[in-house]
Amino acid sequence: MTTTKKPMTETAEKRKSGRPPENLKNELRLELPSNSINEGIARSIVSVFVSQLDPTFEELADIKCAVSEAVTNCIVHAYRDTHGTIYITLKILDEKTVRIEIRDRGCGIEDIKTAMQPLYTTDSEGERSGMGFTVMESFMDRLFVVSSLGRGTKITMVKTLGDGRIRGIK
Ligand SMILES: Nc1ncnc2c1ncn2[C@@H]1O[C@H](COP(=O)(O)OP(=O)(O)OP(=O)(O)O)[C@@H](O)[C@H]1O
Ligand SMILES: [Mg+2]
Repeated sequence: MTTTKKPMTETAEKRKSGRPPENLKNELRLELPSNSINEGIARSIVSVFVSQLDPTFEELADIKCAVSEAVTNCIVHAYRDTHGTIYITLKILDEKTVRIEIRDRGCGIEDIKTAMQPLYTTDSEGERSGMGFTVMESFMDRLFVVSSLGRGTKITMVKTLGDGRIRGIK
């Protein structure tokens, strides 16, 4: 008796190879206290999550850098002189695209357009350079900022990974 093997569907092939099938919109939600140590922890968790999309070393470094800037802003600006929770939501939108939301319930931003200008900072101690939003904008494909004074800020960043490049270390 002969058996004929049915060809695998595209989805089954991807599942077998460990990559996310198109219909699996993987998602991760995190809540972290605004301690400075959590900047590094957030970067590492995002890095592990994004690795399922098989990014290049450079793409991963860009994403980690953007996350670092957004989380640092929550710690040093949103919850300046206080403590609060940082809410992070990671979502795979398709097999090459990740969406990262970083939200706080801190002081909020009075004028978002001005705050996003390169070199603009409200820091008076000379520790900050006013380049966080510029870094987020240049390292990610899309950046959306919504904020309400006294209620908090939500940063949404989207990145679509390219292909055809040499894959780096994950
Ligand atoms: N989550 C936030 N809550 C309240 N204010 C914020 C938040 N994120 C940014 N800001 C405001 O926007 C300004 C610009 O932010 P940006 O990250 O570009 O620069 P910075 O944090 O001042 O300096 P750098 O990021 O280079 O250390 C900040 O100085 C701060 O006033
Ligand atoms: Mg900053």
